[in-house]
Amino acid sequence: MRLNIGLVLLLFGLVSCAEDAPVLERDLRNVSELDIEHGRYLASVGNCVSCHTSKEGPALGGGVSFAVTGGLFDSPIGHIYSSNISPDSETGIGAWTLGEFARALREGVSRDGRHLYPVFPYTHFSSLTDRDIFALFVFLRRSEPVRYEPPKNELPFPLNVRSMLALWKFFDGSGEPFEYDEWKSEAWNRGAYLTLGLGHCGACHSPRNVMLAERSSARLSGGFLFDEVEPGKIRRWSAVNLTPAKAGLQSWSTNDIANYLRTGHSSKAGSFGPMNKVIAGGTQNLTPEDAAAIAEFLKSLSPIEEKAGAPPSAGTRKIGSDVYEEYCSECHKASGRGAFMKAPPLVGSAIVQSADSSSLINVILYGAHPDSRLPAPFGAWESMKGFRQKLDDTQVAALASYLRAAWGHDASSVEPEDVKRQR
Ligand code: HEC
Ligand code: HEC
Ligand code: HEC
Repeated sequence: MRLNIGLVLLLFGLVSCAEDAPVLERDLRNVSELDIEHGRYLASVGNCVSCHTSKEGPALGGGVSFAVTGGLFDSPIGHIYSSNISPDSETGIGAWTLGEFARALREGVSRDGRHLYPVFPYTHFSSLTDRDIFALFVFLRRSEPVRYEPPKNELPFPLNVRSMLALWKFFDGSGEPFEYDEWKSEAWNRGAYLTLGLGHCGACHSPRNVMLAERSSARLSGGFLFDEVEPGKIRRWSAVNLTPAKAGLQSWSTNDIANYLRTGHSSKAGSFGPMNKVIAGGTQNLTPEDAAAIAEFLKSLSPIEEKAGAPPSAGTRKIGSDVYEEYCSECHKASGRGAFMKAPPLVGSAIVQSADSSSLINVILYGAHPDSRLPAPFGAWESMKGFRQKLDDTQVAALASYLRAAWGHDASSVEPEDVKRQR
């Protein structure tokens, strides 16, 4: 994943201004099993456990690596490693107070006052309630302590100067506390709380401004991120528009959204890219009620439509539709409506119509495979092989352009250079 601090860190000279920890009035000697269970649930749904457990390492030991890009190169310029949040007193958070823990989650400040990088999505966790922070804390504190020091971050100057993050935080407007809306249903409020807070969907699905802070006015209308797909190789992804816009989730029912979050599969799509980790390491643990609440909230948003793009030329369209017929229609069908247990519909697909075509190009080049940790519910799709050996950049661009203009879609054309960038 890419860290969104590039520009800000060109600015110098800000000193750390850590404030006093907020006071949470709970007695730690008075913890019930229910609190711990609640904390376990939150830590699984919010990807805390998965983001703090590396493949080879012990649970909660940290050491998961996140690549930082300069934006211009396809290899990373550095790495940030997640912290040990097990209750070991030397390498983990065993000596932390509840107040210090709450400050880390809400303000992104470590115990010793160092500012934390926003790859840890504290700009979203700032809306967590006192009760939920307490539950997370007691769950973590009752987990198995592991003595493990994650690798040191490798970052070039000036990205390694943590105090500059204070300035970035000043510009980032996403960290507002959650406010209950009495005019809306209980489920809607629960959905808003989970989507904007613990679920941190906006970390990837919201567009960012020049300071690389999330644009709250266009919240959840689509964003992008970088993923290190193999050591040293960065790939760009678009995270689709989650509002009920035409190029967003208009065609998805609340059931489709809830099923997708709990299984990685719905009648509209299967997960394949970075969503695999989000779902397998997080949302698959949602209760049916909480998944339905997120769906209700997303479907209630005002649609944020994307600008229509220039359609492809007749020549490009012809190349694209020929490629589609030869390589894709067997599964996705000539109508683009897909087929039961075979392939999801491409008509109305947010991946196909997204203003940023990165994820569409990635599916065509690398295929689509649900994470092996996900259940394969009855009626699940097959998986899809990639076409990077079979199709060249011009063919992939023509195919993508065709899909983006077919069946009433009006998204912009894709150029061969866009495809080359994703190879
Ligand atoms: C997307 C991955 C990701 C998710 C999700 C995530 N974290 Fe982290 N977390 C990190 C990274 C990376 C760091 C280290 C940041 C740094 O070095 O500045 C971190 C740092 C922390 C710290 C500070 C530790 C220290 O020693 O300063 C705490 C506490 C923490 N996370 C708790 C949590 C909890 C609780 C959750 C779930 C509610 C969570 N994290 C979810 C990636 C994540
Ligand atoms: C063998 C059947 C098969 C073929 C052939 C195939 N696909 Fe797929 N496609 C799938 C399956 C299955 C998925 C969902 C996979 C998952 O769950 O991760 C999928 C997913 C997709 C998606 C993501 C849709 C969304 O909204 O999430 C796109 C776009 C797509 N395919 C385009 C294509 C194109 C273009 C071609 C031709 C180059 C093609 N597919 C060929 C089976 C196929
Ligand atoms: C780490 C970044 C990240 C986070 C966090 C994230 N998403 Fe996604 N999401 C993506 C990307 C990238 C895609 C594109 C397809 C994929 O990866 O399968 C996507 C696709 C989707 C899709 C459309 C799938 C399709 O194939 O049409 C839905 C629905 C979705 N996300 C919902 C959510 C919700 C709800 C949350 C919060 C609970 C969330 N996402 C959190 C990155 C993210």
